[in-house]
Amino acid sequence: MESETPSYQGFKDYYQFTHPTRVVVGRGMIEGTGFEFQKEGAKRPFIITDAVVRGTGLVDKVEAGIVDGGLEISGHFDEVPQDSSTDTCEACAAAAKDAGADSIVAVGGGSVMDTAKAANAVLTHGGRVLDYEGLFTLPRADDGMGEPLPLKPLACIPTTAGTGSEVSFGAVIKDPEQKLKILLGDFPLFPRLAILDPESTRTLPPQVAAATGMDAMTHAIEAFTSPEWSPHGEAFCLQALRMIRENLEQAVHGDPEENEVARGNMLIAASLAIVPGAAGASTLGAVHSMSHAVGGLHGVPHGVANSINLPHVIRFNCEGGAAIVDRYRRVAELMGADASGDGAALADSLANWMTAMSSGLGLPTRLTEVGVPEASLDQLVDAAMGDGCSLTNARELLPEDFRALFTAAL
Ligand SMILES: [Fe+2]
Repeated sequence: MESETPSYQGFKDYYQFTHPTRVVVGRGMIEGTGFEFQKEGAKRPFIITDAVVRGTGLVDKVEAGIVDGGLEISGHFDEVPQDSSTDTCEACAAAAKDAGADSIVAVGGGSVMDTAKAANAVLTHGGRVLDYEGLFTLPRADDGMGEPLPLKPLACIPTTAGTGSEVSFGAVIKDPEQKLKILLGDFPLFPRLAILDPESTRTLPPQVAAATGMDAMTHAIEAFTSPEWSPHGEAFCLQALRMIRENLEQAVHGDPEENEVARGNMLIAASLAIVPGAAGASTLGAVHSMSHAVGGLHGVPHGVANSINLPHVIRFNCEGGAAIVDRYRRVAELMGADASGDGAALADSLANWMTAMSSGLGLPTRLTEVGVPEASLDQLVDAAMGDGCSLTNARELLPEDFRALFTAAL
């Protein structure tokens, strides 16, 4: 069985595009969090963060900015773990409810922001996180036939430049019983406000900056090469890739006191890169299916997994025909890799460029280096096959394809 080669030209029969989150960008903008968030109707926000971010002093600055804007902080939850679970989200929702919160401010990376989204669903509508698993499952007016009911206002202040969760309607949460990552996605989950301020990534460790940056790059490449590409999405992908090329290395390796411009630009790039996949149909691909599998089963950080898996999926996808190869050629041109070869040569050149980029950023390049045992191959294949992201991959994948990809990546 071979999927049809996608066409990246002509007028599409169908696509949709949504970007409802208000994005506020600038130096020192976290000090204006209260001023901006009261415009969304917030009066008593609840702060969600993790212990590491709390320890950097950043949350104190955000809280001072909230109070300066005339808002009252209702309470806070500082215990979001690296891989947040449904239990954490429910505990967080209960704490926000006890505090009398009317809105939420999330200060952190993808895990914190996704926790805030899922907690907001439980805080607003009651029940458990699993009640809202899947796409478009939040309560609607008129017995489910009307418009989606709004959640409490959510403001996100990302402290990594990667996930893009601050402008997406998705939340990925671990279900500890199934040992799987589950997805929630619905329009009310779009944050009302995203504040991008380079101050919020000043203390980010280089390895985290590298891994999350590679996640952003993967979002842009998977969306750009997906059969579900769109002209609206393409505009976001191309600008994201340009900004990643120009800023990622400096944001990782530079002195945090001197690389503010690179860090600010990476925050913008990451929030651009997710937009094509943020609404309606996801436009991610097989890299994300593989990374969700190794993240769910072995706890490998998402960006690290993406950077390991990406080169192998590039080689696989480029076997799918000239149209796909040409699409990756545009990626190679943008990133400054050798874009002159055909087919396998182009794929090798771009894949090797990606591996060199990851190594240069100090990231591992094999799954066995990050604790994934070869013995888990069958489980990995099953988990990746069960993940919806590969439905929008440039090529269709069978179990033997994932087996070959994981074997290469191990
Ligand atoms: Fe991702």
